[in-house]
Amino acid sequence: MARKLIVTTALPNANGPFHIGHIMEYIQADIWVRFQRMVGNVVHFVCADDAHGAPIMLKAESEGITPQELVARIAAERPKYLNGFYIGFDHWHSTDSPDNTALSQDIYRRLRAAELIYVKPVEQFYDPVKGMFLADRYLKGECPNCHAKDQYADACEVCSIVNTPADLISPYSTLSGAKPVMRTSDHYFFRLSDDRCVEFLRSWLTTPQRLQPQVLNKAREWLSGKGDEALGDWDISRDAPYFGIPIPDAPGKYFYVWLDAPVGYLAALKNYFDTGKARANGEPLSFEEFLAAPDTEQLHFIGKDIIYFHTLFWPAMLKFAGPPYKVPDHVYAHGFITVSGEKMSKSRGTGISPLRYLEIGMNPEWLRYYIAAKLNANVEDIDFNPDDFIARVNSDLVGKYVNIASRAANFISRHFGGELKFSGDTGLLAREARGIAAAVAGHYEARELGKAMREIMALADRINHDFDAHQPWVLAKDPANRTELQDVCSRALQGFRLLTVLIAPVLPEVAGRVARELFGMTRTFTWSDADVLPERINSYQHLMTRVDPKQLDVLFDVESGPKTATDANLARAEAKAATGANPARAAAKSAPAAAKAAPAATPVGTKEDSSGAATISIDEFKRVDLRVAKIANAEHVEGADKLLKLTLDLGFETRTVFAGIKSAYDPALLIGRLTVVVANLAPRKMRFGLSEGMVLAASGDEPGLYLLSPDSGAKPGMRIS
Ligand code: MSP
Ligand code: ZN
Repeated sequence: MARKLIVTTALPNANGPFHIGHIMEYIQADIWVRFQRMVGNVVHFVCADDAHGAPIMLKAESEGITPQELVARIAAERPKYLNGFYIGFDHWHSTDSPDNTALSQDIYRRLRAAELIYVKPVEQFYDPVKGMFLADRYLKGECPNCHAKDQYADACEVCSIVNTPADLISPYSTLSGAKPVMRTSDHYFFRLSDDRCVEFLRSWLTTPQRLQPQVLNKAREWLSGKGDEALGDWDISRDAPYFGIPIPDAPGKYFYVWLDAPVGYLAALKNYFDTGKARANGEPLSFEEFLAAPDTEQLHFIGKDIIYFHTLFWPAMLKFAGPPYKVPDHVYAHGFITVSGEKMSKSRGTGISPLRYLEIGMNPEWLRYYIAAKLNANVEDIDFNPDDFIARVNSDLVGKYVNIASRAANFISRHFGGELKFSGDTGLLAREARGIAAAVAGHYEARELGKAMREIMALADRINHDFDAHQPWVLAKDPANRTELQDVCSRALQGFRLLTVLIAPVLPEVAGRVARELFGMTRTFTWSDADVLPERINSYQHLMTRVDPKQLDVLFDVESGPKTATDANLARAEAKAATGANPARAAAKSAPAAAKAAPAATPVGTKEDSSGAATISIDEFKRVDLRVAKIANAEHVEGADKLLKLTLDLGFETRTVFAGIKSAYDPALLIGRLTVVVANLAPRKMRFGLSEGMVLAASGDEPGLYLLSPDSGAKPGMRIS
């Protein structure tokens, strides 16, 4: 029986363009959806802009446009990204729409009828100049603890104490600068603490297979909190002025954006049905029928930061609104993507721009594959690391996968007019293919995309190995070996076809071309094609190029590294001088620890290196105190050609280090990222100041200097051993 699935991704805030985090989420969900369709399940995959809330209202105001205009401008950009990365939503909608208004108000009325809504006065800061209530993020003042000025209430940047807005000394509104006043206003609450809700949530959460174990634990903690931590009722109203949906029978009150945002999932689905698109995609049911069908499953892909809303409020809202609404069947949370180990930050302009990726002509399927290779079913962060990206794409996709077709197809076209013929047991080949396809299907289904990719690449390795072992280029020289040559190449191409079916959810474009161009099919692959043996091929056409490392430089907007070997050497020489790590001197003093710590300054693979380094014991190695450090600041040094001044956060203290990496790194892009520092290197006085350690970088005979970074998750001060 085909499954009936509603699949959504989180609705992105409509106050800015997509960032790489959004794209990662869509790629994860899109791969899963494509897999489901390949095995014959029915999927309606929808998303929408999350349009409402104060930030969007204020941003529009500052630009002198209406919030609707702002949202429309952002929405107009969406297709470029979605089409560009082959993200196949069936429909894209907006929470600022009549469908969403109707559904949100309907759900609210049902909750009210179920006696889960009540009104209570709330005292809150109010900006008398702006004429609006102030969320905490619009309030600043002096920290009552350390007296630092201009601090937000939630956490003082200087002493880290958590304050409440009322604690702040001389608070002011960041919107107008005015002194806020306390005002009381009626707010609407959803009675989440009601026994019915708590009881329902307990059983919803613990339904087997519904949530990932990490998500379940988190949600359970919230649900069973005591005292201050106890699950409270949910304030669902905001006072005018607010960009949102009016609350029925409550003039001047609007739904808090997080009430109508998830309802936007259903509004998007409804609009997809109502506009006839679902029917055009072969769906016979209406929106209400589909939603109410007992076997329909509702699934949400989200990031780890919004688990709270999706595992408590949203299921409770749906449950007590009643049919046709249904509670989510699964909420699948993913971790965050970092770039070279650092969190993305719009203000610092870090991260990578998905649009730039496309505009400079990088292949979207590279990114889809890279993300798939890194993802698992847990809520773990993943890191986009440029070198790792280049290595994986070039070695896996081009070196292992595409390579098979380009090599085998040429023999078949040239010697056999495109005809495939197998000498051995074709039944066995098909059975093997079925076995592998079943294993890979299990991984896709479980969202273990990394495992699926590893399984696929292991198969590619076996196919390449088998092909090479028979040396078809030798066989081709002697007509007596014709049968064997045809068999070897046919098996390679059958293997390639199988690989293509298996990787099709990740590489939809390449898979479509392989089906059409190489195998002459008039449709795309389905999962059941995995064990069908091909009979003939058309001539091979180039499928995918390698990543050129220069593209990554352009993507990151880094000025290219040292241009000549001489430059690189100069940079290294200055790095040595800068950090006080003179490898020659260290070696002479027979301090192997220091010598080991010198790779920043020592070209790898030179004579000096391979002949000079004596074996050391583990104890000698342990004398080097290697630590994870966060680059808290990086700046140019007046008068220095090669140096950057780094301020390193080692967790327990802050250090200043001068590093000879100016030729390779823009200081602005270093801020926030993690690296490795030799923490017990004797400080060294330099022309520009005292250098209190050394950061590690790799370099070789080629130009280029590469700062080391730990995998994501490492914290400043951690010991490296
Ligand atoms: N508008 C809300 C969601 C409402 S859903 C009813 C929102 N929007 S968001 O634009 O801030 O985030 C959209 C999605 O992107 C969320 O799932 C969020 O977790 C995800 N990501 C944001 N930054 C991310 C990374 N760095 N990495 C991966 N996903 C990230 O939250
Ligand atoms: Zn403070």
